[in-house]
Amino acid sequence: MSKRIEIKKILTTEPKGQTVTVMGWIRAFRSKRFIALNDGTTFNNLQVVVDFEEYDDDFLKKLSFHACIKVTGALVESQGAGQRVEVLARDIELLGENNLEEYPLQPKRQTMEFLRSHANYRMRTNTFNAVFKIRHGLAFAVHKFYNDNGFYYMNTPIITGNDAEGAGEMFRVTTLDAKNPPLTEEGEVDFTQDFFGKSTNLTVSGQLQGEIGALALGKIYTFGPTFRAENSNTTRHLSEFWMIEPEVAFMDLEGNMDLAESFIKYLINHAMNHYPEELAFLDKRIQDAEKNMKKEERRPMGLLDTLRFVVDNDFERITYTEAVRLLQNSKPYKKGRFEFPVEWGTDLQAEHERWLVEKKFGKPVIVTDYPKDFKAFYMRLNDDGKTVAAMDVLFPYIGEVIGGAQREDRFDVLKNRMNEMGVDEEELGWYLDLRKFGGAPHAGFGLGFERMVQFVTGMTNIRDVIPFPRAPRLADF
Ligand code: 4AD
Ligand code: MG
Repeated sequence: MSKRIEIKKILTTEPKGQTVTVMGWIRAFRSKRFIALNDGTTFNNLQVVVDFEEYDDDFLKKLSFHACIKVTGALVESQGAGQRVEVLARDIELLGENNLEEYPLQPKRQTMEFLRSHANYRMRTNTFNAVFKIRHGLAFAVHKFYNDNGFYYMNTPIITGNDAEGAGEMFRVTTLDAKNPPLTEEGEVDFTQDFFGKSTNLTVSGQLQGEIGALALGKIYTFGPTFRAENSNTTRHLSEFWMIEPEVAFMDLEGNMDLAESFIKYLINHAMNHYPEELAFLDKRIQDAEKNMKKEERRPMGLLDTLRFVVDNDFERITYTEAVRLLQNSKPYKKGRFEFPVEWGTDLQAEHERWLVEKKFGKPVIVTDYPKDFKAFYMRLNDDGKTVAAMDVLFPYIGEVIGGAQREDRFDVLKNRMNEMGVDEEELGWYLDLRKFGGAPHAGFGLGFERMVQFVTGMTNIRDVIPFPRAPRLADF
């Protein structure tokens, strides 16, 4: 038996009529003579030429869409346009039959919603093939970027007792009997009797432990799953998502912005250099979808042009105070078209962020120095006593992709902030103490990985860039 050759390799092999064996899934038929075969090794299909006279009808019927076959035949130069080589099948073996009558997917365009409800099959489609290959590429590029820049990869705990963001959006981890938990004298659930001897939850961020690493190794990054029990059913929120959190000693907000910008540009460049076929496919997919849309609903630029534009241009950098001033002078504000109020002291909403990014500047915007009241306790208080050294990186279509800050490195100021914001000093005593025993100025940020994948692939729903999305009332597979 000749050995199987990967299709990626075959497509670049000199065709001399040599015998080859390939295995893969049938993507399409054409003219009752050609099979497009894909084995996942490349985005492109191998053309297999079948002499239908050679096989009986029962067998041919089984060569259906998404069935898995093994083909042995001669590798020759292709007669048709569109591909360089093809395989003239001599022997076809059915490895995995596919009963098309019962199969949920069909060889036609299907909606994203439909495919989402069949996540066990959707990776077989061209779109998801492209998306998940690019997702892999971006994950690889994350490690490469930080490794090449002297950062250390640090794993922070998934189970923790703290709420790093102080937003109370946590999934509890417990082994207590939900029906009959032990109670304290006050009638509260007694978590001292729980598995870890205290109340624990899935982490919302690895940052606080990451700071421990930065204050010892200088430059670290985390890349792991994070969990948020916020009841947001939007195209940008997941209950389980992956976050990359670099943390750097001796870095201020300015350095933090520079790092964020060069990191994002590196990721986009990597995708463009390594996944041109996948990106071209996704670009065309969006253009096709936009054909039926009104002009104002279409993107101003195609996917690849957008990516190139982001890589080639500096991000805009403005303070929160400037952002509010710009918004208050904007047309939609004056015409009362914003749903949410714009006034100094309230958080920017998605509609405001989109106006800044898509209308005002037409490129990514970094907003800094937000009021302390709606930002996390760990951000460094500015000299005005009102704002903190925070930064959000805002992207077209997606909104916030990065949230970060220079950290409060002064013991007394941090202690005050923790008290002010009701942060449990007992649980986070170790964090506060980092400021007492050899502290250092430091900064970092968190990039939402799925939002980044969304931007690079142009997918409109975040649930379509993670293989098995978790969201309110959704935990299949
Ligand atoms: O802005 P966030 O909440 O910041 C932090 O967690 C900090 N501890 C990061 C740091 O400074 N080390 O979250 C960071 C990013 C957001 O900008 C967004 O891209 C993403 O994480 N994110 C989500 N992505 C998907 N679904 C959600 N529910 C998300 N919540 C935040
Ligand atoms: Mg944020």
